[in-house]
Amino acid sequence: MIWQRAECFREINDRINDGGYLLLGDALEADLGEFMGQAQCVYLDPPGITGGSFTCRMRVGEAGWQSGKKYVELPAYEDFHPKPRQSHDAFLRALLRRARALLHDSGSIFLHADQSTAARARMLMDEVFGPDNFRNEIIWRYQTGGRSKRYFSRKHDNIYFYAKSAEHYFDITQVPAQKKAERSNHMKRHVDEKGRSYRSITTGGKTYIYYDDEPVYPDDVWDDVSSMQQKDPQRTGYPAQKPQALLDRMILSTTKPGDLVVDLTCGSGTALASAAAHGRRFLGVDSSQVALAACRKRLDSYRLVIQSPLQESEALVDASAMPGIGFYTVALHAYTLPSGPLAPYQHSPAGLDLVGLDGVDQWYAGLLNGGVFTAYASALRQKQTPALPRELEVPLLRGTVAILIVDVMGRRSLWTGARAE
Ligand SMILES: C[S@@+](CC[C@H](N)C(=O)[O-])C[C@H]1O[C@@H](n2cnc3c(N)ncnc32)[C@H](O)[C@@H]1O
Repeated sequence: MIWQRAECFREINDRINDGGYLLLGDALEADLGEFMGQAQCVYLDPPGITGGSFTCRMRVGEAGWQSGKKYVELPAYEDFHPKPRQSHDAFLRALLRRARALLHDSGSIFLHADQSTAARARMLMDEVFGPDNFRNEIIWRYQTGGRSKRYFSRKHDNIYFYAKSAEHYFDITQVPAQKKAERSNHMKRHVDEKGRSYRSITTGGKTYIYYDDEPVYPDDVWDDVSSMQQKDPQRTGYPAQKPQALLDRMILSTTKPGDLVVDLTCGSGTALASAAAHGRRFLGVDSSQVALAACRKRLDSYRLVIQSPLQESEALVDASAMPGIGFYTVALHAYTLPSGPLAPYQHSPAGLDLVGLDGVDQWYAGLLNGGVFTAYASALRQKQTPALPRELEVPLLRGTVAILIVDVMGRRSLWTGARAE
């Protein structure tokens, strides 16, 4: 049976694990009133000033997820153009002011900058947060990317860590680091009367003792977190995705379980995934629908409140809902698009066709009630599950059975069939 388009102003992903909010919109304009003064940690990884455009490679259909050879390249986001430089400054200043308003007095902010933005980013952080609230300039050193012969290869990002105020919460004991053998090789080895081994060094008339069984903590040069590798299981395909281990270190040292973590340019949702994995709540905002689609999929095992306008879809949806004992069995039979929907995008192979459920990247079955769609079950294409399940179960509760589809172009649309009793 052919289902009809429906509307909702909010989606809830019904799960036991606490999660947070996802919002599609401009970070400078979105209505974030209810979160003001609530955030314990804000992480920002905004676009740079290279003038570049970034795409996200979305695999298509079961065969595409198996081989990696069927895909569409979707525009994800753009960096600022270097001229005029002031437009990036104005954006960053406004973003930092929003972030400051969102922070609780004991909160922290981490601003991730690259070589194109670092110097101005630090000056703007001083301007908005005050030089007294500066805590660290963290150097994240990585090995990926090309090597230059015209200058020394650029192999680090700068992360500016500021407190909102002197009431700042910080607990370094939450983020022990791996010991580096070479650091203590030049020290004398000893064993104390209790049998604990330690190393010592005397400089300037003072002796420093380091027990081997004591944890060590990171300093401000982070060279022990590798950047995303091509085959990394965390990889979503979204450009500029950061490794979760980097975010774990920022979030664990500055928040407690239950605290709110905010990312106003959340991309694929790395900060949100880190927050959720450690029992923190989150709010993620991004202006790219491709980013929101990546976040939605990545965070599906958590309870989510999603505020994102539905997009136009010229598709025909063939689906059914059969009431059973205690639940409906909802089946998605076909998502048929008129020919040529991929024409605006680069794709492979050249004559890529979307047949059956090939056009669907994610689908959710649930109930529509008073303009709110609650998703109870999900089917997601992933490396481990390239084939999409065609049937999902929804509890027999009040509301209209509905299906939310995120297609391979990142577009969200909602569909309903018969009215549930
Ligand atoms: C470098 S990426 C973030 C990557 C992210 N940290 C991750 O790990 O996936 C920058 C993001 O900022 C978003 N962005 C750019 N301008 C924005 C705006 N005005 N409001 C919200 N998001 C914006 C882009 O869509 C992009 O997803």
